[in-house]
Amino acid sequence: MTLSRRTFLSTSLVAGTACSALPAAAAPARTPRLRIAHLTDLHIQPELDAVRGVAACLEHLQSLQAKLGLDGPDLVITGGDTIMDAMAADMARTKLQWELWRKTKADHCGLEVQSVIGNHDIWGWTRAPARTNGDEPLYGKRWACEEFGRETPYKSFDRGGWHIVLLDSVFPFEQSYIGRIDERQWDWLERDLAAVPAEMHVVIFSHIPILSALPIAVAGPAAQGAAGMTLPGGRLHIDADRFLKLFAARRNVRACVSGHMHLVEQLDYSGVRYLCNGAVSAGWWRGLNRDTDFGYALVDLYEDGRVERQYVPYGWTAAS
Ligand SMILES: [Fe+2]
Repeated sequence: MTLSRRTFLSTSLVAGTACSALPAAAAPARTPRLRIAHLTDLHIQPELDAVRGVAACLEHLQSLQAKLGLDGPDLVITGGDTIMDAMAADMARTKLQWELWRKTKADHCGLEVQSVIGNHDIWGWTRAPARTNGDEPLYGKRWACEEFGRETPYKSFDRGGWHIVLLDSVFPFEQSYIGRIDERQWDWLERDLAAVPAEMHVVIFSHIPILSALPIAVAGPAAQGAAGMTLPGGRLHIDADRFLKLFAARRNVRACVSGHMHLVEQLDYSGVRYLCNGAVSAGWWRGLNRDTDFGYALVDLYEDGRVERQYVPYGWTAAS
């Protein structure tokens, strides 16, 4: 669907824009250049009715006009954790879960799908339960890369006048992970953004939030010590400071979109909008995650660099 055919609907999509404060001639565009459906933390698996849930989510976003009177997305981006716990799953279990995703996507999604890698998509880093030794051809991120049809766990592309970066947030640590990118990816990212024209807007998708207050919100008493609060390195990018410096230098990064926390958050800082989205699987399919429903986000990218998001529950309830 091309956005020029869209009819503007007076919804919360444009809440907070400065329409009334600007002269008519300078009014911001009402229709986005690109609408992305961000489906994150699907955690597809044979149990918990997850396959039917993912199918329902895909069907929902392709019938938005009929269901909610909204224009459908141009593109689907899955935000990581497509499958469940491959880090500690054996080969047969991981293979089964990827097959479920491949078939569900083929049967229920007619739109282009681009994918971010999440920690649950990485095979075998927790070696004993996964029965891996690190020499397997599909070990680590290679299996997810193969499923997603690319060589590297990160990539970028241009769409609708925007430059879209899919980062790989997940860095190995003690047979598990923390949130950061390695030097090879830093080198790639700096060169990638340097090649983007200054007037072109950039949006970055990562699995783990680059900047978020949610790790503080969910930390609980266990994080409190005599000298302060300790946050796990798996909850957010420990290299956030380096990202902030890069964004300040480039000045055309408008938003960073993440998942991982299964919670909805908007944080605007230093000209960049940080959006964390709730999960397709909510509380990993067992019910709401805190108060956050099973859902996906519509991320609208405008010609003037604005980014607006709305979170869309797709009407799912946990299997009883
Ligand atoms: Fe997740």
